[in-house]
Amino acid sequence: MTQLQRVKISALGTYVPPRLLTNADLEKLVDTNDQWIMERVGIRERHLVDKGVATSDLAVEAAKKALAERGIEASDLDAIVVGTVTPDMFFPSTACLVQHKLGAKNVWGFDLSAACSAFVYALQAGAQFVATGSHKKVLVIGADVMSSIIDYTDRATCVIFGDGAGAVLLEPAEDDSVGLIDFVHEVDGSGGCSLYMPGGGSLNPASHETVDKKMHFVHQDGGAVFKFAVRKMASLCEEILKRNNIKGSEIDAFIPHQANKRIITATADRLNMRPEAVIINIEQYGNTTAATIPLAMETARQEGKLKKGSLVLLASVGAGFTSGATLLRWAY
Ligand code: UT7
Repeated sequence: MTQLQRVKISALGTYVPPRLLTNADLEKLVDTNDQWIMERVGIRERHLVDKGVATSDLAVEAAKKALAERGIEASDLDAIVVGTVTPDMFFPSTACLVQHKLGAKNVWGFDLSAACSAFVYALQAGAQFVATGSHKKVLVIGADVMSSIIDYTDRATCVIFGDGAGAVLLEPAEDDSVGLIDFVHEVDGSGGCSLYMPGGGSLNPASHETVDKKMHFVHQDGGAVFKFAVRKMASLCEEILKRNNIKGSEIDAFIPHQANKRIITATADRLNMRPEAVIINIEQYGNTTAATIPLAMETARQEGKLKKGSLVLLASVGAGFTSGATLLRWAY
């Protein structure tokens, strides 16, 4: 087998729409309160799109920021991978829409469906093209407009989710001192019935009946997902740390999917992470599904926790169930 090229993240861009939905706003829509949401989930506000704004629009804004940070044009890209569970439409893929809106000539791309794990999965999928040497610049985007599939009369789900996007550029690393080190991914389809959107697909095509039955919205058994997430996020992180001979206390930035503050702190405690290394921004954004990890990368960067060589652990658990963890050293 030919030697694989080490791959690094060379730029990061994020975007959230300006409109806020606060806990006080939600108190007017459903029987909930700020104290419950803050204590049980850790969210104060989320950003939501206005009507007519789609996932590709958020993705393009994040992509433009990543390209500008690196000082390259969209046409310099080789491929675009978009992780999302809320594509603008079933087809064409959001990657095609993003390619066109960016004016990224001679680029190919595709969407990847893995719900909350979509960013870590897309990161590794994109990285393989760079690792083999076939591509030099791959843009990986996690973007979701969760407000398009949320029932704002269901307090069990509407308090949790928000809209947002994040993009990273993948390029060959100069040497092995920085870049992606290792990853572990798993799916467990037995958890499919715990978090899903039953309507609109080939099993239950959209009809008056599916709409009447609210099958076009997210349905979640919160307790089942919570238990799985706490167990799986910790065990995957333990596995990847152990096989790389790294202790939790050595991680400079733990950047997990932001679904519930309690899931994050339970994982961090079990792995003996330093509290200052644990990145939590769920209070500001809620759960933006594929966008949480790049948005949390941006928070880590603003907090001064991403420097060249910083040891970073990404982790996610989501619908499917899908789960994954990535170990890397920040490259710039
Ligand atoms: O990102 C994809 C992966 N998703 C996740 O990781 C989500 C994982 N699950 C969770 O984060 C939590 O299970 C939730 C935040 C969804 C729910 O928190 P919980 O602590 O598991 O609450 P619960 O569903 O067990 O409900 C506890 C109580 C219930 O009342 P009773 O039966 O004890 O009287 C609920 O009816 O809280 C009530 N409740 C609420 N109260 C106020 C549920 N939702 C709300 C609400 N406001 N929004």
